[in-house]
Amino acid sequence: MFKIMKKTMAFILTSTLAFGLIGCSSITGGKRIIRISHSQSQTHPDHLGLLAFEKYVESRLGDKYDVQIFPNELLGPSVKAIELVQTGAIDYAIASTGNLESFDNIYQTFSMPYLFDSVDSYHAVMEDDKLMSGIYKSTEAAGFEAVTWFEAGTRNFYATTPINTPDDLKGKKIRVQQSPTNVRMMKLFGAAAAPMSFGEVYTAIQSGVINGGENNELALTNNKHGEVAKFYTYNEHQMVPDLLIGNVKFLNGLSPEDRLVFDQAAQEATKVERSQWDVQIAKAITLSKEMGVKFIHPDVASFKAKVLPLQKELLTNNVKLQPIYDRIQEINKQTKEKK
Ligand code: GCU
Repeated sequence: MFKIMKKTMAFILTSTLAFGLIGCSSITGGKRIIRISHSQSQTHPDHLGLLAFEKYVESRLGDKYDVQIFPNELLGPSVKAIELVQTGAIDYAIASTGNLESFDNIYQTFSMPYLFDSVDSYHAVMEDDKLMSGIYKSTEAAGFEAVTWFEAGTRNFYATTPINTPDDLKGKKIRVQQSPTNVRMMKLFGAAAAPMSFGEVYTAIQSGVINGGENNELALTNNKHGEVAKFYTYNEHQMVPDLLIGNVKFLNGLSPEDRLVFDQAAQEATKVERSQWDVQIAKAITLSKEMGVKFIHPDVASFKAKVLPLQKELLTNNVKLQPIYDRIQEINKQTKEKK
């Protein structure tokens, strides 16, 4: 029922947006409506971050702007939402770099398996303004740019049967984001990749169309995947950030004073989102155990060995990745030395 309602709602909203009614509906009661789409529930750190964004903007410019957040893929799955931002039908969306990859292949960077040596190193990279601002701006010509990042943890396998070693992946069908690199990575792991949107995963596991997925622990609880997949394996193949992307025309059309408020609101959103992350992951682990999920700690090196060649393959096929990769290696090294 909820799914049908969700689909109908998405259809109505996207049709309204697509037929240009947004031109009139964007301004209501003299205020410009700012629409933000994301695919998570209303308790997820991403949503809480966006609520902080809304509060920040409206407490300063509430006479001019009304920020509206659409969670749960209500405006459509992530790839659709990115397209809506691209055309300006909506103003912002949260998008995983996995899904951004087909809009600009610079985002293959974050799909590289085992790219970061540690969580600290991943965070240091994401906080490296010089590196990230170049990446954020890379989609400007395509109509959108990233304004900030959100934590999305470490991606690990989860399935209906235990994955203890890479051999257990043989013959398994595993959901991945709509990213060519992830499809290739799955092949190297020895599994078959099933690209689909996040919202489809629960039913696909439940009905046996796929054997599992790969994500951070919140997928087990916030998205209830732990109800249908009882084995979660810490093989740690990727740390893939979520980015808040905004329509370029909208952002560039703001006065410098308003733009500053929106940019500061984005920073505030990141602060709140990140402050929620570890707490919610710890809760998700406890809750998943109560749901009967078993957590497996495998030999990570054996998983790494399978897919490490993909780093080289990507660097050869996409020359713009090399300088970014080199900088990330530098940060990996510096972070290790600091410890
Ligand atoms: C994470 C991420 C989402 C993404 C999802 C996915 O949950 O936060 O932005 O859409 O993974 O695997 O599709």
